[in-house]
Amino acid sequence: MTAQLASLEHARSLDAADPLAPFRERFYLPEGTLYFDGNSLGLLSKDAEAAVLKTLDQWKTLAIGGWMGADPPWFTLGEEMGWLSAPLVGAEADEVIVTGTTTVNLHALVSTFYRPEGDRRGIIANGLDFPSDIYALQSQIAIRGGDPDRDLVIVPSRDGRTIEEDDLIAAMTDRVALAMLPSVLYRSGQLLDIARLTAAAHERGVLIGFDCAHSAGSVPHHFDRDEVDFAFWCGYKYLNGGPGSVGALYVNRRHFGLKPGLTGWWGYHKERQFDMSHSWEGASGAGAWQISTNPQLSAAPVLGSLRMVAEAGIDRLREKSLAMTNYLIALMEERGLLDAPYHYRIGTPREECRRGGHVSVEHDAGPRIAKALKQVGVIPDFRPPDVVRLAPIPLYTSYADIWQVAQKLREVIDTGLYLQMPEGRELVS
Ligand SMILES: Cc1ncc(COP(=O)(O)O)c(C=O)c1O
Repeated sequence: MTAQLASLEHARSLDAADPLAPFRERFYLPEGTLYFDGNSLGLLSKDAEAAVLKTLDQWKTLAIGGWMGADPPWFTLGEEMGWLSAPLVGAEADEVIVTGTTTVNLHALVSTFYRPEGDRRGIIANGLDFPSDIYALQSQIAIRGGDPDRDLVIVPSRDGRTIEEDDLIAAMTDRVALAMLPSVLYRSGQLLDIARLTAAAHERGVLIGFDCAHSAGSVPHHFDRDEVDFAFWCGYKYLNGGPGSVGALYVNRRHFGLKPGLTGWWGYHKERQFDMSHSWEGASGAGAWQISTNPQLSAAPVLGSLRMVAEAGIDRLREKSLAMTNYLIALMEERGLLDAPYHYRIGTPREECRRGGHVSVEHDAGPRIAKALKQVGVIPDFRPPDVVRLAPIPLYTSYADIWQVAQKLREVIDTGLYLQMPEGRELVS
């Protein structure tokens, strides 16, 4: 990057030419901050807020009548939001349902697709997995009478940052029944090769599912084309649905009709749900994997957000996301931030096809750097042992914001501010 390209004027010219720039106006940006934590909790938009207010109003005026009379009807909101979500993951409308939450959906799907038989009892996970997935898989194995220490096959990382697809494939032996992997690793932001892993799994008689918490709404997927068996994700990161909002799941249609491992009345055939029969009859599509009543107040903001994401288009979001992460990395290089005395390290793969939506900035004094950045108005997050995650979000981050963040990364070290911060991470970091 030349000095001219590294200037604030150039950042402003990128913003002026950005077709997605107008979306920023529709978000509440916290005053006086550069918000770079949308990979953990996306910001509130006016669209999401309006959707919540509309739900409250319809509850006020329609009361119980809202199940069929609300716009859209509450009774089929999960299905309706599934249709809106399907283009994000390359699925047909009835293969996606908006329901549950990330870990609950993992349980619902793994309890269905983990079918240990004879010696084929293993589930492949990886050494850099998000802990909730590991806890859930351990419990799923235990419920089936297995031994998590033996049956959970944890593929280690070679470098502490990334997982090699070759290693995952080598672990797909005839003792493995299921592979349950992240699309994007939560710490380094590595994007796995879903098509290659799925093809390799199927050649070896292994079913495969993906946790897409760190890619939904950021990286386009092609689950039908790639023949992925199942996937799930949350609504509160790149989908900006609010803290703990409803999540979503995908089931490939070749598995329709399979009985879910965890059934509930919300997954019943919609036409006959209120017959109140004691014999379970599943909905025809992914809707069968619903368990409980769709949570209207946590679904409403996601609905508002999904409509906005559809308006922006997932391919344009991905294009801008890559441009922005490239820009942040290039600025860090140009400013000498990877050299002495700064010593930041980029933990995210440089190849675009291996990168999700955030940049993992490693530093030996990671927790102190994260705290110092907050003091100077940058909101990142921190993941042990040394990762400060920075996520420029295509819907509301500007190139000028990124330019300023690069300045602040330098400033907290130049001024020694980070050394004044207490050691250790915060309770919620
Ligand atoms: C990759 C990944 N999987 C699972 C979870 C757990 O999500 P939830 O608390 O919604 O179950 C998270 C939370 O951030 C995550 O990042």
